[in-house]
Amino acid sequence: MNIVIYGSQYGTAKKYAEELSARTGFELKSYEEAGDINAYTTIIYIGALYAGGVMGMKKVFKNMKDISAHKIIIATVGLADPEDKENIDTIRRGMKNQLPPEVFNNAMIFHLRGGIDYSKLGFKHKTMMNLLYRKAVNLPEEKKTAEVKAMIETYNRQVDFVDLHSLDPLIQAL
Ligand SMILES: Cc1cc2nc3c(=O)[nH]c(=O)nc-3n(C[C@H](O)[C@H](O)[C@H](O)COP(=O)(O)O)c2cc1C
Repeated sequence: MNIVIYGSQYGTAKKYAEELSARTGFELKSYEEAGDINAYTTIIYIGALYAGGVMGMKKVFKNMKDISAHKIIIATVGLADPEDKENIDTIRRGMKNQLPPEVFNNAMIFHLRGGIDYSKLGFKHKTMMNLLYRKAVNLPEEKKTAEVKAMIETYNRQVDFVDLHSLDPLIQAL
């Protein structure tokens, strides 16, 4: 049995997960309904990035047993440029803190780009983004990372960077 699990608040990570499930024939579940994942051979996790954390990922992988019996692929979905090395390093540092070491060391990791629609953000997220934005715009230019730049450029807008072709390398890795 194989599965695609997603952690998505506003739907972009879910869109990638649905496409993967359609292309692979793997079962599809959200992290809330995934339950015990030890029964699955291949586990693909697609999670949205929120303040450096991957939504739902910690919960799903915390009780994994015998890593060698599984193939694990994890893809993050965020606003910042997924090709930017500094951004990738930051994301991976965060993932290392959220995952058991044997999962982090054995998983194949990919980074995808999502989107944002400020008109759909909940109050908490809107407030967080407003605080982050006000801090970010005052940073000196050399301190603006890809993550900060993406946030400034997209602030209060609706942007969609979802590109289903960016799943091709992940499918090949299967
Ligand atoms: C409060 C908040 C925090 C975020 N933090 C990050 C982040 O740390 N890195 C990043 O690349 N994107 C970040 N984003 C952007 C989301 O990852 C992006 O909108 C993603 O596509 C959301 O996925 P979803 O639609 O599946 O929920 C953040 C967005 C919000 C609202």
